[in-house]
Amino acid sequence: MADVLAAPIGVMDSGVGGLSVLSEIARLLPNESLLYVADCGHVPYGEKSPEYIRERCRRIAEFFQEQGAKALVLACNTATVAAAADLREHYPDWPLVGMEPAVKPAAAATRSGVVGVLATTGTLQSAKFAALLDRFATDVRVVTQPCPGLVERIEAGDLDSPLLRQLLQGYVEPLLAAGCDTIILGCTHYPFLRRLLGEMVPDSVTIIDTGAAVARQLQRLLGERELLAAGPALPTAFWTSADPEHLRNILPLLWKKSGAVQSFTR
Ligand code: DGL
Repeated sequence: MADVLAAPIGVMDSGVGGLSVLSEIARLLPNESLLYVADCGHVPYGEKSPEYIRERCRRIAEFFQEQGAKALVLACNTATVAAAADLREHYPDWPLVGMEPAVKPAAAATRSGVVGVLATTGTLQSAKFAALLDRFATDVRVVTQPCPGLVERIEAGDLDSPLLRQLLQGYVEPLLAAGCDTIILGCTHYPFLRRLLGEMVPDSVTIIDTGAAVARQLQRLLGERELLAAGPALPTAFWTSADPEHLRNILPLLWKKSGAVQSFTR
């Protein structure tokens, strides 16, 4: 039993965005050993077909299974809408945590009655997102804004260039013009733009992301199954399907620490 408890947790994203979720998991569950796969060779998922994303997620899930991971976290909204159901069917007994834009808390928080969602095209076009709106956004107006180009800037380690500012401004303005007082960050890359976003929106606008809620959901799932580790955690291990050197270089910016990065070749 002790071995199962000490087993690592696999966390994945199309790239570095999931590091925003990984940080929340590490903060809430410091005894857990974490593995992270950044599928940087195939980013952005937001512009790819659901079939393509499902296939990538299958390969990464298979890898985590081989590593003995006791749980899987899809630290990616786009991967969750495309692949969570498929993975749950394929691995019915494996605890899996996915994520979705925080429509429910945003609908509860808004005072103006208008909520904005920044997310990828893939997430916003999905049936799962439409169902989320039907369920939780019947009494509010939701303005959606796909954000092509943002993920690529963040993947390059750019959190504050004139080009990035211009792109982000172009995506935020329509939300403010529509009267949004609550903005959902519906992509795990975007929390890295919180500071910049804070400069672009009035203080009265609430910005909501889901990283901390995902960490709590993971804690709940592991707790229910008596799978929480007693520690100590091993150092977090990273893999990328693009150049390991690039991830190594931007880890200190996004993860605030350095880490061992290996190549993911599947
Ligand atoms: N970070 C991902 C998300 O949460 C997707 C980014 C992308 O690859 O397009 O949706």
